[in-house]
Amino acid sequence: MKQLLQPFQFQNGVELSNRLVLAPMTHYSSEPTGEVSEHELTYYRKRAKNVGLAITACAYVTENGKGFPNAFGVNDDKFIPGLRQLAESLKAEGAKAILQIFHAGRMSPPDLVPQNQPVSASAVAPVREGAVTPRALETEEVEAIIEAFGEATRRAIEAGFDGVEIHGANTYLIQQFFSPHSNRRTDRFGGDVHGRLTFPREVIRRVKDAAKDAEQFLVGYRFSPEEVEEPGITLDDTDVLVDMLLEEGLDYIHVSLWNFHTASMRDENVRERAIDRIAKRINGAVPLIGVGQLHTPAQVEDALQVVDLAALGRELIIDPDWLEKVESDREDEIETALDLNKQAELAVPAPLWNAIISRAGWFPIKDQPKT
Ligand SMILES: Cc1cc2nc3c(=O)[nH]c(=O)nc-3n(C[C@H](O)[C@H](O)[C@H](O)COP(=O)(O)O)c2cc1C
Repeated sequence: MKQLLQPFQFQNGVELSNRLVLAPMTHYSSEPTGEVSEHELTYYRKRAKNVGLAITACAYVTENGKGFPNAFGVNDDKFIPGLRQLAESLKAEGAKAILQIFHAGRMSPPDLVPQNQPVSASAVAPVREGAVTPRALETEEVEAIIEAFGEATRRAIEAGFDGVEIHGANTYLIQQFFSPHSNRRTDRFGGDVHGRLTFPREVIRRVKDAAKDAEQFLVGYRFSPEEVEEPGITLDDTDVLVDMLLEEGLDYIHVSLWNFHTASMRDENVRERAIDRIAKRINGAVPLIGVGQLHTPAQVEDALQVVDLAALGRELIIDPDWLEKVESDREDEIETALDLNKQAELAVPAPLWNAIISRAGWFPIKDQPKT
């Protein structure tokens, strides 16, 4: 039997029916108030139905942590009933459900956050056109955000999730604290690579504390192994991050890569894949999730030589029946490009659909037959 169809057990006893993970994907389709919407429940039910583990889009832990229009919140108890529906939808056919929790930091669009003022570790703008300079958070505000990650975890437990994933990847606030580009602080949250790990470490400790009495609750951590800024996070920095994650004792580590096989974004002379380097450092101590353009079952099988679980993102938007087709020996029927005629059938909410078709090259698009 294929490795990807094999069950998997975490050290705390949580069992997955197979090795496939629905990757976290923002869909811009919650209610403008931050509530979970009907559209997103339908979208998730369709995609979580076969996977072992389903991770939600990122949910903001504070009002000033919003990253996208129509994202959903986990910053208030009023969101718990909707979050419960979300957890139930993901778990309806046996998947374990993970809520991804995050703060966008300097990546917040100004119009989504209080006083139109994004915040970050330091007042350094991201390197991109039109970016605004964030306000540096006061030490007490940083502590309040750490507390908010703990509160978000309490809400995830109350809503019936099987775990949370701390979103330390993709240039958002946790990564901004780790990055020498965005973190120029002189308090205990700044300094050398170890000082810059203080915020991620304290977030993990607060989240784990909130989860300590929950039975079989998973706490995972997602990170990006490098960033292109100068100065920026290097693979050497990431070794130190991984050591910290091992010390803190997470249930899994999730490496965010656009392409699973990436060696280095910073140095073209590097030959070893980042995922291999990280897997070696972890050395089986904690389950590892890999992701990034794993389109076919053969590619997933190959990835599972290195990682314990394989996450699929765009693949499951394009073809929610991906795993069902593998299980029933219909691999050749897997769709590898988005069929623009199938929005309703695929239950992709309109804002996500519009984002996909307006951003060239983001998703492979199926050639339309000429009429
Ligand atoms: C539409 C879309 C939204 C995404 N939103 C998130 C997110 O909320 N959190 C996150 O950690 N990664 C997010 N990602 C990154 C994916 O989890 C994944 O790492 C990436 O798409 C590469 O995997 P794939 O090639 O299987 O799609 C998003 C990707 C896409 C395409």
